[in-house]
Amino acid sequence: MSTTQAPNPPAGISTADLLRDLGPWFHNLHLPDGTQTAPDHFFGDFPAFKWREIASHIPQDLTGWSCLDIGCNAGFYTFELAKRGARVLGIDLDERYLNQARWAAQQFDVTDRVRFERMQVYDLARSLERFDLVLFMGVLYHLRYPMLGLDIVAQKVDRLMIFQTLTAPGDEVFEETWGRDFHDRDLTRDPGWPKMVFFEHGFAGDPTNWWAPNHAGVEAMLRAAGMQILSRPAHEFYICEPDPRRPSAVATWNSAELKSATGQPWQ
Ligand SMILES: C[S@@+](CC[C@H](N)C(=O)[O-])C[C@H]1O[C@@H](n2cnc3c(N)ncnc32)[C@H](O)[C@@H]1O
Repeated sequence: MSTTQAPNPPAGISTADLLRDLGPWFHNLHLPDGTQTAPDHFFGDFPAFKWREIASHIPQDLTGWSCLDIGCNAGFYTFELAKRGARVLGIDLDERYLNQARWAAQQFDVTDRVRFERMQVYDLARSLERFDLVLFMGVLYHLRYPMLGLDIVAQKVDRLMIFQTLTAPGDEVFEETWGRDFHDRDLTRDPGWPKMVFFEHGFAGDPTNWWAPNHAGVEAMLRAAGMQILSRPAHEFYICEPDPRRPSAVATWNSAELKSATGQPWQ
C-alpha cells in the first residue's frame, strides 16, 4: 500500500504535456481551469453522466462521513464526495490511475480530505477500517472471485453502498428460489433465475471482464452479502444498506471460509 505524493511537474511544463505524461486517462475529470482529462472518451462525458444518475441518492452534506471509493481510477467520485465534505479513501490496483488521482487532488485542493492507496478489493479483508458510504462501481465484473469481493466489501459498510456492475440482459426476477431440490433444476433455466455469465476469454477486448450477473443475480448476491436494496436509480445501479434482519453468512455461521480465502487464521 502506498499514499505517495503525485509526481511534481518540472517547472514550465504545460498542463497538456502533463496530462499526456500522466495518461492515458479513463476518467474525464473537469479540472478547475476548464481542462478535461479525457474529452474524447468513447463513452462520452464519463463518468459525469453516471454520477448524475446517483448524485441525488447521496446526502448533499457529507461532513463527518467516511467514504471508500473502490476502483477509484482517477478519482472522479472521490472528488465529488470530498466536495460534499466527506473524508474519502480511494483504492485501486493500478498505480497509473492512482498517480492521476493524486495529481488531480492537488488541482481540486482536496488533499486534506482524500487518500489514495494501492490496494486490491481483497486487501480490505485485512483492514479494520469501516466506512459510512462505500462506492463499489465498475469493479465486480473485473474480479475473478466476485462473491468473495462482494462479501469483503459488504462487511465494510456502515450506512450506504452504491453498487454498479456490468450485467447480462434481462430484468426478470424468479422469486421463489428457496426450498427447491435436485429435481427442480429445470427451474434454473427461467430467465429470472439468478445467474452470472462467465467470459472465459474476456469480453469487449478486456481480459479482466470475467463475469456479468443478470439483474436477478445482482439482487440475490447483494442480499446474500447482507445488503438490502433501497432503490435502483438507473440500469445497473443499486443503492443498498446493511440489512440487520438478514446479515451475511460471513457474519453469522460461515466466517471461516472468508477468513481462509483472505489468509486469516480461521480454526
Ligand atoms: C471500469 S473501471 C471503473 C472506475 C470507477 N469505479 C468508475 O465506476 O468509473 C475499473 C477500475 O477498477 C480497478 N480495479 C480492477 N480490479 C480491481 C481490484 N481487484 N481491486 C481494486 N481495483 C480494481 C481498475 O484499475 C479500474 O480503475
